[in-house]
This record gives sequence, structure tokens and C-alpha cells, in this order.
Amino acid sequence: MKFVKIAGLGKYLPSKRLLNSDLEKMVDTSDEWIIARTGIEERRIAEKGVGASGLAYKASQIALERAGIDPQDLDLIIVATITPDTQFPSTACYLQDYLKAKKAVCFDMSAACAGFVYALVNAWQLIRGGLYKNALVVGSEVLSTITDWEDRSTCVLFGDGAGAAVLTESTEPGFLSAYLGSDGSQTDILNMPGGGSRNPISSEVIDNRMNYMKMKGNEIFKIAVRIMVQAANKALVKANLDKSSIDMLIPHQANQRIISAVAKRLSIPKDKIYLNIARYGNMSSASSAVALCEAWEDKKIHKDSIVVLDAFGGGLVWGSCVIKWV
Ligand code: ACO
Repeated sequence: MKFVKIAGLGKYLPSKRLLNSDLEKMVDTSDEWIIARTGIEERRIAEKGVGASGLAYKASQIALERAGIDPQDLDLIIVATITPDTQFPSTACYLQDYLKAKKAVCFDMSAACAGFVYALVNAWQLIRGGLYKNALVVGSEVLSTITDWEDRSTCVLFGDGAGAAVLTESTEPGFLSAYLGSDGSQTDILNMPGGGSRNPISSEVIDNRMNYMKMKGNEIFKIAVRIMVQAANKALVKANLDKSSIDMLIPHQANQRIISAVAKRLSIPKDKIYLNIARYGNMSSASSAVALCEAWEDKKIHKDSIVVLDAFGGGLVWGSCVIKWV
């Protein structure tokens, strides 16, 4: 079995900023409520007509350059997204074409906010098993296209963006462990009911606003805290590490209060948790990817740092992954 490391990271955030004060003009909400209940101050919105592949392309170019890997040497591209450019072909195939990564095998990963962690673990295992050498893993979302801008309980939460990681073989680990989980009995608390094969796009779907995300926020809140703590602990045990060995926790950025509750239960001090929710809101699969990239750019991750990714989202799905930075 081969060792695997992250060789380069990149991110892309659209330049258009949507402030809480802008949302005050759209729905019955306030800057005070949004900051107090979520920690979000602003989010980014992609230009009309720009799909997940467009954001992914810009993040991927940076990650590949930093890794020193030519796109033509990529064996695998996985794009984690719940806002693919089209139902098919996959967003990963569009990205392959932009990058001219002709020999890469491409597919999308649908695991909502845990998508980037799921995709990383898949790429790690495919390289570890010897099938591929170089992989590009991207979390990219244009959530603004599936956000109901008339629903104050969800529209204040989400934003657009992309983060990318290049994975390669390594002489030392790298990826140490992972713990993934799913619970399909709770599909009703966070979903998008329309636009798929069960309720294809129709005037009825549109009239009932079924082509937008629906969420029972406070039910998810409690489950998210419990599961994220459990996932991080299980991944740490698999890596033979204690929570005191965490140098940087990269939690999914859904709600500042969820992150604080998870950190408290894991006894992790504030300076070891990466937070960017105030600037970007919840970008689903892109959240962990962008946070990991920014933690590295901000020099919060060094050689030998123990980094723990911890994500949770609609499905329900969750995943935690322990990486030693090499
Ligand atoms: N502005 C003002 N008031 C609001 C707003 C708003 N934007 N939204 C809701 N409220 C009101 C509600 O109507 C309710 O009023 P009421 O008491 O008169 O009925 C009150 O605020 C409290 O509402 P709650 O939903 O109980 O508020 P809560 O404190 O739970 O916060 C939130 C809501 C932010 C959504 C929180 O529950 C949360 O973050 N949940 C988890 C989200 C998450 O982790 N999702 C998973 C990942 S997303 C993915 O996978 C795509």
C-alpha cells in the first residue's frame, strides 16, 4: 500500500458579495439575528450562467500550480457538488475539458456538505491501492441557484465557492485515517425535493418552490453537533491519536454555534479551529475545501501538523479525516 499526501491546495470565491444588510431588504431578517444565530456576515454569489465547473476550474488551476503537477498528469478528477452544471455529464467531465486533463478518470461525488471529505477519502484509497498516482479533488458549489430567496430560514445561510486539493503518492503518510457515515432514514430534514427523477422540473414543482433547498434547521443542529464530535473521535482512534494531538480542526462551516459546541466537546482551543463562516456562509462541499486551503495559506498548517477535517450534511452524511501534513 502506498502513502498519500496533499501536494497543493487552491480556492476560488466569486467577487460579488451579498451582505446581511442586502438580505434585510429581501426578507424579514436582520443583521443582528443572522450574526447571533449563525456567525455569518456575508457570502459570495457567482455570476449568472457560471456553473460549479467554472468555479472549480479556477480553484484547480491554483492547486495544480502549487503542487507542480501538469493537468495532463492527472489520473483522476472527483468533483464533490450538489449543484452540478448539469444532471449529466458530470461536472468533473466539464472540468477535465477546461484543464485538458485528457487521461483523467472523472466523476462527481454527491454527499452534500460532507462531499469534499468523502471525495478526499475516495481519492486517497484509489492512490493508496495503486490504481492512480495523481488526483484532483474539488468541492464546488453554486448554492445560490438552489436557494429560495424568499425563505428567510435558509437564504441567509448559503454562498458560492470552490476549493481544490491535489493528492499524490508520498514517501511518508499523509492521510492517516478516516471515518465516514450515512443515515438515509433522515432524508426529510434536509433536501431539495424537486428537479430529480421523482419530481422532474414542471410548473407544479416550480409553483411549489420544490426546486430549492428545504431544511429543518434546529433538528439538524442537534444531530450535527453529536455526530461531528463522534466522527472526529472515531477518526482519531483509527489513527491512534488523541484529540490533544489536533493542531488544526477544519470543521464544516454551517453555523458558528455548531462549531463552538463541537470544539467545546472535543476540548479544542479557539486558535486550533479554522473559521471562515463569517465571510462565506455555508458553501456545502466547498466549505471544508476552502477552509483547508485558507488554513494553509494563513500558515496555520505546517510540516507534521495533525489536521482533522470534520463535516456533516444532508443525507444525512458525515465524515472525518486525519491528515499529517508532509
Ligand atoms: N431572520 C430572523 N428570524 C428568523 C430567521 C431569519 N433569517 N430564520 C428563522 N427565524 C426565526 C424563526 O421563524 C423562529 O421564529 P419563531 O420562534 O417565532 O417561530 C426563530 O427565528 C427561531 O428559529 P429556529 O429555526 O429555531 O432558529 P435556530 O436557532 O435553530 O437557527 C439555523 C436556525 C441557523 C438554521 C440553525 O438551526 C442551523 O444552523 N441549523 C443547522 C444547519 C446545518 O448544519 N445544515 C447542514 C449542512 S447544510 C447542507 O448539507 C446543504
